[in-house]
Amino acid sequence: MKDIFSTAPLHHTAGSPAPSKAAFSVLSEQDFANACSEIMAWEGYEATPLVSLAGLAEQLGVARIDYKNEGPRFGLGSFKALGGSYAALRVLQRELSAKLGREISLEEIRNGDHRDACAQITLVSATDGNHGRSLAWGCQRFGAPCRIYIHAEVSEGRAEAMRDLGAHVIRIDGDYDESVVLAKTEAEQNGWFVVSDTSWEGYTEPPRDVMAGYSVMTREICETLEDAPTHVFLQGGVGGLAASVAAGLRQFYKDASPRVVIVEPDLAACLFDSAKAGKATTFAIAEETIMAGLSCGEPSEMAWEILSEEAADFLTIPDSIVAPTVRLLANGETGDEVVEAGESAVAGLAAVIAARQDQALSETLGLDETSRVLLIGSEGVTDPAIFEAIMAGADHV
Ligand SMILES: Cc1ncc(COP(=O)(O)O)c(C=O)c1O
Repeated sequence: MKDIFSTAPLHHTAGSPAPSKAAFSVLSEQDFANACSEIMAWEGYEATPLVSLAGLAEQLGVARIDYKNEGPRFGLGSFKALGGSYAALRVLQRELSAKLGREISLEEIRNGDHRDACAQITLVSATDGNHGRSLAWGCQRFGAPCRIYIHAEVSEGRAEAMRDLGAHVIRIDGDYDESVVLAKTEAEQNGWFVVSDTSWEGYTEPPRDVMAGYSVMTREICETLEDAPTHVFLQGGVGGLAASVAAGLRQFYKDASPRVVIVEPDLAACLFDSAKAGKATTFAIAEETIMAGLSCGEPSEMAWEILSEEAADFLTIPDSIVAPTVRLLANGETGDEVVEAGESAVAGLAAVIAARQDQALSETLGLDETSRVLLIGSEGVTDPAIFEAIMAGADHV
């Protein structure tokens, strides 16, 4: 096992962190507070566990590893449950307020006071699975029709989970970025509303709400930890998760905020390339990574605004170390609590393990025996067939 990690080709590029305003202006403290007070009032809300991986920390020679396990989130399997559903609610709020000529509260919609009107507002999105599941769940809760566009590589298990939540699922031949374009085009033609987790020029409200929704996770972490982490390893798809957590930590810990290390698959490294170029940059995906949730070629512009100020390091990892990390967490061999995690959840942990086998990289990242590392275990077993195959020893699925 150690060999796999010590020989893994990781790539590092330094960010140019200059925390000044984005962590407070792109996403404000008020945005986060509003999202937290709404989502924490939802039926079924429960904080997810922050798991201490003390055994593994000792083996790796760091002081702590805390792993926020988002698997149980609202029974949907991932942190994404917090974003798409909240953004859906906010779109409905804006539309109903405009139609009815008065400010409609989130609570009215949540309580079903406008169910007939909601049934006339169709919400759509492209997804690799988890965001769509969250949106479908929100639409089902609030009574709005939902259309989800998925690309060729999204597993049937993930598609089925969205159908089960009442979504109409449209599968295309192309990749994620093509599914984003189709969702956008069909929405424009039909008067539907795109609820995307990624932002682009002129499209910022739903992705801001999505990222605000994720802040519930950061709030729970900050309220649980006794000491600020020294490092946070954040996996990147379009960058929404990383930007939201980085901003939330900055708002909470101010100057004592941890060093932000972004981790991406080497097959989909758009944030890494953006850091190298000094501006949001597209990565041409040639092959799909095992980390389905991180297979994104275009960074979210708003997320990049935050990460360009907050992230100190950008790493890419190869797919080869993902399945071994899933098994390590799930088979209890470190003596820690067993965690069943999906492929995208373990990217940060895989990077930490590999970095600790590489003296030079550890030094570059400032990782040593005093480090307190925070990780976001962004999903549980969102596709049981894939998880079973990995646990049976498969490294590629
Ligand atoms: C499980 C999981 N982790 C991480 C991410 C990355 O989030 P983002 O695209 O906001 O960077 C995703 C995105 O779909 C995901 O599903």
